Amino acid sequence: MTTDFAAIASTYDETRYGHSEILTIVKDAIRRHQGTDMTIVDVGCGTGNETSLIRELPQASMVIGVDSCLEMLSKARRKGLLLLVMADASALPFRDASVDMVFSSFLLHHLRGRELRQLFAESYRILRRGGVVLSIAAEHAQLRRKIYAPYFPDAIDAECARTPDRTEVETIYREAGFASVEATPFLYELRDRDSMVARLNGRYASQLTLLDPDEFAAGMTALKADAERFDAKGAIPEYRNTYLGWKTQ
Ligand SMILES: C[S@@+](CC[C@H](N)C(=O)[O-])C[C@H]1O[C@@H](n2cnc3c(N)ncnc32)[C@H](O)[C@@H]1O
Repeated sequence: MTTDFAAIASTYDETRYGHSEILTIVKDAIRRHQGTDMTIVDVGCGTGNETSLIRELPQASMVIGVDSCLEMLSKARRKGLLLLVMADASALPFRDASVDMVFSSFLLHHLRGRELRQLFAESYRILRRGGVVLSIAAEHAQLRRKIYAPYFPDAIDAECARTPDRTEVETIYREAGFASVEATPFLYELRDRDSMVARLNGRYASQLTLLDPDEFAAGMTALKADAERFDAKGAIPEYRNTYLGWKTQ
């Protein structure tokens, strides 16, 4: 079953926002790339939360958001993003060797095996020599450590089933031709307990939208009963991986 982004586009930003931790990772990749005047493509840009942050970086002269869902792009457009393209991740509409960075956040688990390989083959094709592909995505162990995992075990199982694990992503990077593939875990912090409960109530994780309504309600009831033991002010920690690959040829 796939997520219907057209249906959730209007509420997506009630529970999702750009992360400063991810921006720091992009800055670090730019520093290592020693790039100026960079053209950066954000594949699966959605409503443009990360695109908007990346666009502010002085080294990014052009930041282009790509998404296959018109409704998500329309939300991004209303944030003032102008360089938006409706296209599939498996067929990126850019010339060979025309881009410096292909970025994606929270996209890989939406692509099936062939599409995933095609995304990285396409990324390799459109990147200039020295260019970098940077993906933000979870590995299975990180998904299983999510704070809400005990309340929605079926959702976590389903999320693992559709998420390529770290070794698979690394293999696909290498098969596409990328050298020096690096997978680095990083901690990012979700907002406090109350907004976490609100995010879950809003089914911010697309896998939650696929749960049977009764199962979802039961999980929320149990979680709310336990929520008092979460620190109300403290941010909620989650881990993700930075996957980096360099086009060295
Ligand atoms: C979970 S959202 C992430 C959005 C954004 N990157 C963020 O971090 O908020 C995944 C996005 O990928 C897009 N998407 C899913 N499959 C795609 C595909 N095959 N080609 C292009 N975009 C796709 C969806 O429309 C959605 O906007």
